[in-house]
Amino acid sequence: MIQSKLPSLGVTIFTRMSQLAMETGAINLSQGFPDFDGPDALREAVSRHVMAGHNQYAPMTGLPALREQVARKVATLYGRTVDAEQEVTITPGATQAIFCAIQSVVRSGDEVIVFDPCYDSYAPSVELAGGRCIHLPLALPDFGIDWDRLQAALTSRTRAIVLNTPHNPSGSLVGRDALDRLAALIRDRDIYLISDEVYEHLVFDGAEHASVLTHDELYARAFVISSFGKTYHVTGWKTGYVIAPRELSSELRKIHQYVSFCGVTPLQWALADFMEAHPEHVTELPAFYQAKRDLFCDLLGSSKLAFTRAAGTYFQLADYSAIRDDVSDVEMAEWLTREHGVAAIPISVFYQEAPKDLRLVRFCFAKREETLRLAAEKLCAI
Ligand SMILES: Cc1ncc(COP(=O)(O)O)c(C=O)c1O
Repeated sequence: MIQSKLPSLGVTIFTRMSQLAMETGAINLSQGFPDFDGPDALREAVSRHVMAGHNQYAPMTGLPALREQVARKVATLYGRTVDAEQEVTITPGATQAIFCAIQSVVRSGDEVIVFDPCYDSYAPSVELAGGRCIHLPLALPDFGIDWDRLQAALTSRTRAIVLNTPHNPSGSLVGRDALDRLAALIRDRDIYLISDEVYEHLVFDGAEHASVLTHDELYARAFVISSFGKTYHVTGWKTGYVIAPRELSSELRKIHQYVSFCGVTPLQWALADFMEAHPEHVTELPAFYQAKRDLFCDLLGSSKLAFTRAAGTYFQLADYSAIRDDVSDVEMAEWLTREHGVAAIPISVFYQEAPKDLRLVRFCFAKREETLRLAAEKLCAI
């Protein structure tokens, strides 16, 4: 009998809910992916590069043209000059970037602080590195960092903190003041920061994304991770990147080269072309997704769901206690899917130990207008 290295893990909730949505024909607002395609010019560029023969291994660290484009974007948006050769690494998806960053710094017996509810790849990556996750719940109702708990959780074994802003699943943002506070807390400690910023361009109502790239002190010890899949509506391309100071990038690359070696070549060419030709794509993204959030929330106005509009990401949380206070969020998500034709994700699965009275489900609004209208109609009829 094989002895599992991750004995408590089974099929993820995302797979389960997407499968249930398919079986029941429900509108799938569960898993985080758009039901529309990426830009024509981007997809055409892939075909062009495939036909031009760009089909062999890319350089291990990523195509230079794409690393240059990432460096250019970061200079424009966050005012940081990064060395595209030494500090930017292209990976097959942000998930692999997170995995490699964690393997680079976490050793057996180390502790890694994650804030619950958190994205599901962090804890298994820490466990596989021999470390232990310390799960700190974000403070309700706003899902902000509980600074007293964070301070109390720091020990000599703390090796890393995983930050995620804009935050999946809550849609909350970490502000500049929080970055300063975090920097002060870990200033004299040997702690690395893994900053998951895959929703960096999905920030609404005029707010600014407080990237760790804007913070000199934090960046000196950080891996900053993003996802082309999220930014260009092509999640299935599984292409992302890590920006980290030279020494950290060098360690991360040692691992990345034996996990995948490199990302998919024609996708990298296409992304480099598109980023160069359309730098406005990222600056137009907040308005694009804010319009979807507002449409969905306006339509839900006559439902019995209660919510505060997401400040970022393409997820909207909703409290269902006025509909059914008697069921858990997992039961509610299943009930919504089976009985009312809209699939959602329960929030408790993002926790090690969820608060008992949590009555929240997450809807993904990265969908076409007609999908959002149809889903809202069904939800309003409950
Ligand atoms: C917070 C967070 N981090 C990372 C990822 C993974 O990104 P990728 O698809 O590029 O691996 C996701 C995808 O849902 C996410 O929500």
